[in-house]
Amino acid sequence: MADMTAAYAPSHGLGEEQSIWFKLTPLLSQENPMQVLMALSDKYGGVVPINLKNHRIVLLSEPAHAQRVLVDNADNYIKYFDGLRPIFGKSMITVDGALWQKLRSPQQPAFHPHMFEAYFPYLMSAIDSKMARWAEFASTGETIEMVEETWTLAAEMVCKALFDREMPFNPHFVFGQVKTYTDVMNHKSIRLKKVSGELTEISEEEDASKAMEIWGSIPDTVIGANVLDHRERTLLKMLEAAEADPNFPEFDRQQVIDEMKQYLWAGTETTALTLAWSLYLLSMHPEALERIRAEAHAVCGTRDPQWQEVQQLGYTRMVIQETMRLFPPIWALIRIAAGDDEIEGHKIKAGDKVVILTYIAHHSPKYWDNPEAFDPERFAPERAKKRVKYSYLPFAAGKRACIGGALSQIENTLALVQLLRRFTPEYVGPVPAKIHATVTLCPKGGLPFKIKALS
Ligand code: HEM
Repeated sequence: MADMTAAYAPSHGLGEEQSIWFKLTPLLSQENPMQVLMALSDKYGGVVPINLKNHRIVLLSEPAHAQRVLVDNADNYIKYFDGLRPIFGKSMITVDGALWQKLRSPQQPAFHPHMFEAYFPYLMSAIDSKMARWAEFASTGETIEMVEETWTLAAEMVCKALFDREMPFNPHFVFGQVKTYTDVMNHKSIRLKKVSGELTEISEEEDASKAMEIWGSIPDTVIGANVLDHRERTLLKMLEAAEADPNFPEFDRQQVIDEMKQYLWAGTETTALTLAWSLYLLSMHPEALERIRAEAHAVCGTRDPQWQEVQQLGYTRMVIQETMRLFPPIWALIRIAAGDDEIEGHKIKAGDKVVILTYIAHHSPKYWDNPEAFDPERFAPERAKKRVKYSYLPFAAGKRACIGGALSQIENTLALVQLLRRFTPEYVGPVPAKIHATVTLCPKGGLPFKIKALS
């Protein structure tokens, strides 16, 4: 499998013509890109092959397809990291086969549930910083951008809980830098402008590469920052132990840096989008917001939650799960077929790029009653048991499933409970908020909010 990885390893950038993101932009730049994809899937069935000059993209939208690609025949489908290497370097999320397994094994213990209790005070401390900031916003009455707010919270949680460091960088600046790079539409429009000769000197592409230079320097900044508590068991310690292991020459210094970059993006962007979209949904559904407050009051009265109480915040957790159904941060999982296969009677050829559109299964009336409705109770255990397998894939599935899924749900449960007991965030943007389908499912133009303090 390692050879196949090398054979197909893409070298082009996010906005280059060969990039899958570039190919999909006519679809993704539509007013409502997800509706377009759903209409395509309805019209042509769950498997939609798109034949291009020298390769094929196959769009898949059924749970059975996800099972085939991610689980039953997973070894035949390798990761595709077109243009995202500057974000992720050579971290484990980008590689396959034996090397992936070797890289994942020293990191896995940091995500074992018995570690979460040790992370708990650091998650709470990051939420405290956010609450102090929101108290200021409540007094000035200014409009804030929620994704930026939740991104900074998630980044601080990663730095404190997993790396035992204060967050040493300006998260708003870094957030802007990363967005400059991951906004695929920017890349494409820049490239087109260049082709038509309009663009001469400073291009946004140069900005994007500068942005990635800054991004690349962040892990060293984090390592050099104030150590919080000199804990013995942190993710950073595990990465450094792998680096020091003479039997593991692949795990060099650059590997440590790249794994950190991976966590600072994969553990931040997705968690942040989920929290921001959940606050948007709660702003539309004040009855659900009141239920979160009531649940928090029933579980811990007026004091802060204790670690042992987190599991009792079941409704809050269901709100987060329902948010990830309606707005899956990773709305498409992309793989390259290493060898031939067949999916629902359609031949898949070696080299085809397959795109599992998780968004479509999440919104399909075949698998969900009234799929567009916000109904957290559908995640209540007795109803969840009846769910069709692989119809809900916010964290993917199979051996390459998200390493941080459980942790992210604790982070967001605590954030919702703490923030909503002190503040009412009011969404002040257009309704419904529009989607901007970049590498992640973002709100178009952001999610503007005003923060009101509870008396
Ligand atoms: C709501 C929050 C999150 C969502 C929706 C999410 C989603 C995902 C998905 C869909 C994948 C698989 C991608 C693919 O197969 O192409 C993934 C992988 C991964 N995620 Fe998450 N994630 C979240 C939070 C986190 C957190 C908190 C961390 C760590 C702090 C994290 C770290 C990773 C890593 C390292 C991988 C790669 C795993 C591997 O390849 O072995 N994620 N995530």
